[in-house]
Amino acid sequence: MYRTHNCGELKLRDKGKEVKLSGWVHKSRDLGGMTFIDLRDRYGKTQLVFNMETDSVLCSKARKLGREYVVRVKGIVEERSNKNPKMSTGDIEIIVTGLDILNRSELPPFTLEEETDGGDELRMKYRYLDLRREPVKQNILHRHRFAQEVRKYLDGQGFLEIETPVLIKSTPEGARDFVVPSREHPGDFYALPQSPQTFKQLLMVSGFDKYFQVVKCFRDEDLRADRQPEFTQVDCEMSFVEQDDVLVTFEGLAKHLFTTLKGIDMKESFLRLPYERAMAEYGTDKPDLRFGMKIRELSPIVKGKGFNVFDNADYTGGIVAPGCASFSRKELDKLTDFVRKPQVGAKGLVYVKCNEDGTFKSSVDKFFGQDDLKQWADEMSAGKGDLLLILAGEMAGTLSALSELRLEMGNRLDLRDPEKFSALWVVDFPLLEWDEDAGRYFAMHHPFTSPRDEDLELLEKDPGRVRANAYDLVINGVEIGGGSIRIHDAAIQERMFRALGFSDEEARSQFGFLLDAFKYGAPPHGGVAFGFDRWVSVFAGSETIRDFIAFPKNNAGRDVMINSPSTISEEQLKELGLQIIKHNQS
Ligand code: AMO
Repeated sequence: MYRTHNCGELKLRDKGKEVKLSGWVHKSRDLGGMTFIDLRDRYGKTQLVFNMETDSVLCSKARKLGREYVVRVKGIVEERSNKNPKMSTGDIEIIVTGLDILNRSELPPFTLEEETDGGDELRMKYRYLDLRREPVKQNILHRHRFAQEVRKYLDGQGFLEIETPVLIKSTPEGARDFVVPSREHPGDFYALPQSPQTFKQLLMVSGFDKYFQVVKCFRDEDLRADRQPEFTQVDCEMSFVEQDDVLVTFEGLAKHLFTTLKGIDMKESFLRLPYERAMAEYGTDKPDLRFGMKIRELSPIVKGKGFNVFDNADYTGGIVAPGCASFSRKELDKLTDFVRKPQVGAKGLVYVKCNEDGTFKSSVDKFFGQDDLKQWADEMSAGKGDLLLILAGEMAGTLSALSELRLEMGNRLDLRDPEKFSALWVVDFPLLEWDEDAGRYFAMHHPFTSPRDEDLELLEKDPGRVRANAYDLVINGVEIGGGSIRIHDAAIQERMFRALGFSDEEARSQFGFLLDAFKYGAPPHGGVAFGFDRWVSVFAGSETIRDFIAFPKNNAGRDVMINSPSTISEEQLKELGLQIIKHNQS
């Protein structure tokens, strides 16, 4: 028998018991005639005591144990003289009477403490060791609890967990596919699913009514802190629903998770913010509503005063940074550098300080008088002591830069408390967005999203103006999930494919199965998918999803532990009928 108890459970009530424990040697200290070892397992740590005077053979053996050795001990539970309230077992220790070494360990390449000296790459290479560290382990436990609560809630609502295939078919919409060559059919490829979208719709045609799946999805896209090439969705679909039914159901899921995992009772309904307002007021479709600082447009009142930047811009707007009129030259220069970063993309920053004495000081005093600046301050509802930060240029780019500037100011002013939560639905997305480079419309969500009934007639006449029955769940400025009411009518689906520039033949060859299914009594249906990794990490106060995935890929999409992706043998290539063409790397 390896253990009678785990390393996190013994308490004072167990005093005097003979116990067996197994685990890893976390830390060892020799103090005079005594040796103390912290034995660790998933459940916690327990202090072991070896006494040179009472058993010198055993104590000498204990002194030779290295960090991370795996051992089994036998001993008696004793009350500790100096208790450690930080440990769940801090009231007791084990007076060891027997010790077996179950396995030795080399010295780990980095310290396995809360704070480690291991860099990112090293920790990823030895991820199985990194996972022994308390904070990383806690992240994985948190993810587990999250998944259980999701299942509990959805099962309680009558959702069925149904698996869908992973080897599917490459389609041209969405992100780039990961593809898998077929040996049986040389020259043919499977694709890994970017999401189970069409399958869950087919399950509705099959009559399952309510489906969910905690499912791996794969997308070959540029990576960021909140993106992995393989990630997990909580994917859901329901039949005979309108948008409101879906939002109410999944607001219920969100509230259940807030209550059970965060102890937060969200009584109010989530705000439903139309896309257009989100863009105008926050410059993004995933606004962080933990703080205000809404964007205000100034275009009509700043033009015509001879300041070229504003005169030539198709949009001028700004935010009010409360209490920041005291910013120094240096701080303002830093903000200017921030907005000029390529990822923010503004050309420059105009500021106006609303001084305490009622006067104004700006970076454009040459062009604008006190009356002008007062008018701007009034327009933006700024008060004494506030700072106006203004950007101008092409509309979409300037709004996006203002959104970044707003978040930056939120960070600087500590307005983005990770323990505070703001959840909202963004609704009324446009159905399509124009892509200048491709010279065609793309679906803003995906091609199966239904147009609003009242906008349907615009689908051919003015596609850009059609609104979709689509929605996103946003928490703390992170897009947690997205979904829509689907098209369930073959004729409308065909019109949608046409709007996306598909010929009827292309539509049939890509999605014929779905168009066919719609001929056999497809119910009205809709659903949503949540980014599970994102939701888990946002609840833990982080936006880095990697920390919540047991074996993640690094920023370059590599698994440095198993060294993947990697080459395959000539024989495998031959079997698959593949040839590698090496590009010259200049
Ligand atoms: P969508 O593409 O919006 O919708 O994806 C749903 C959610 O998945 C998360 N997500 C990601 N998380 C980590 N890494 C990624 N690379 C990544 N890409 C997306 C986001 C996102 O909101 N089939 C539709 C859903 C539907 O219509 O029901 C879909 O996949 O949190």
